[in-house]
Amino acid sequence: MSGAKLDLNHPNSRDKHHYDPCIVVIFGGAGDLSHRKLIPALYNLSIDDDLPERFAILGFSMEDLGDQQYREFARAGIEKFSRRAIAEEQWAKFAPRLHFCRGTFTAAASYQNLRERLEALDEECKTAGNRVFYFAIPPAFIDTCSAGLTAAGLIKPPAAGLPYTRVVVEKPIGSDFDSASEINGQLARHFDERQIFRIDHYLGKETVENLMVLRFANSIFEPIWTSRFIDHVQITVAEAEGVGTRASYYDHAGALRDMVQSHLLQTLCMIATEPPNTTGAESVRDAKLDVLRSLRPLGDEDLDKWVVRGQYAEGLIGGVPAKAYRDEEAIAPDSKIETFAALRCWIDNWRWAGVPFYLRTGKRLPKRASEIAIYFKSVPRILYNANPRAPLAPNMLTIRIQPDEGLDLYIMSKVPGSQTRLQQVKVDFHYVTSTPEAYETLLNDVIIGDQTLFMRRDTVEEAWKFVQPILDAWGESPIDPPIYAAGSWGPLEAALMIAADGRTWRTL
Ligand code: BG6
Repeated sequence: MSGAKLDLNHPNSRDKHHYDPCIVVIFGGAGDLSHRKLIPALYNLSIDDDLPERFAILGFSMEDLGDQQYREFARAGIEKFSRRAIAEEQWAKFAPRLHFCRGTFTAAASYQNLRERLEALDEECKTAGNRVFYFAIPPAFIDTCSAGLTAAGLIKPPAAGLPYTRVVVEKPIGSDFDSASEINGQLARHFDERQIFRIDHYLGKETVENLMVLRFANSIFEPIWTSRFIDHVQITVAEAEGVGTRASYYDHAGALRDMVQSHLLQTLCMIATEPPNTTGAESVRDAKLDVLRSLRPLGDEDLDKWVVRGQYAEGLIGGVPAKAYRDEEAIAPDSKIETFAALRCWIDNWRWAGVPFYLRTGKRLPKRASEIAIYFKSVPRILYNANPRAPLAPNMLTIRIQPDEGLDLYIMSKVPGSQTRLQQVKVDFHYVTSTPEAYETLLNDVIIGDQTLFMRRDTVEEAWKFVQPILDAWGESPIDPPIYAAGSWGPLEAALMIAADGRTWRTL
């Protein structure tokens, strides 16, 4: 295995504070994503001086707002959702950068109006014609909005000497392989792949991003990061929340589309990838794509035995009663949508041959906790591990994605004293300061033009290819998903699945 080289032309290697000027146009600028995530993230970037000096934000949507009202909307979002509270002097610096342009996504006149507004802002803020179009909109509008921008002459091809145009697209990219490839095709009619930034916000999480650093900037992990030393890997993304207010989306999507196809598979790629040739976006994304391409396709037997779904029934979360999924507002009373999914998969390459990866995710589990657990193989059954009735606990490395980000290494140690008794101890590492929100990292990367943490078209489609047989099997099944009580760790079937391999899910 070769080591990674630092790509000196890569944006991460440049002076972080050297940014080209630009305008970020948020389609759906007065919507929920903007309010909760995007504007608070931009505010935090502004506090950290991680924005171009010549910079503007333009909310674009149908609400009847002026700049002043948009600033009030933004401030309310920051007050409620920002990781750092409003500081008046920071707000005074940030607020004048916020603007609003009213428009309808389907009306040609709105795009003309947008164009004029952008030209005026370019003049006023000296933003040099560089634009980021952030599509915080339902996927059904992607084509319409792209076509509107093209017709108004607002998309410039990527070429040296021209101002840049970038587009940011949110997940879900499609609901199966065919629809994903259709959306990607629509984008490709208007943008070059180098201009498209497909967000999977898990890739912007500090601990997920740190996986590459952990593996390739330390000499102690990589030599043992193989099937010779690793017994198995568990990835858990647990949520205590239920479906919330997103019933209309979720009751068609379910946990497999919503979480496994994107967040869990992307995390898996970060754990399993070979060292890329450089830290540049294409090398990293090529290496991750190889992982997806090495996933063993799921056959009928896998679908029967190694893939489990579940739906939450009523129960208690931290002592508080929670409704059954089918009783949630706007959920079909006979919905077969899964709110929990678990599976075992194999990566058929040299490094990982014979190492099972167990993935699970669900809503209304006992707590919010996302974690990767690397279980190492046991030491030989000799010396301290000679007693068959008391085998030593194998070493384990857990990487906590959230909350309480950090890592724990579990090792055996002698209990101090005259006797030789062993116990498992935990060496832990916590971040002491609050880490940036995923959207801060990702927006910053869009502004500097670094695509490393964004999903390329082939990656998205390969991930859909892997889950497609499960979607087909569940979609055709007349059987209801197994039920689990809200506040439990999922259906019994999930415990039985991993038990069939002689293992158990880690208790979080
Ligand atoms: C989103 C899903 O992508 O991720 C949601 O659509 C889920 O259903 C969310 O709740 C989880 O993100 P996080 O960052 O809270 O773990």
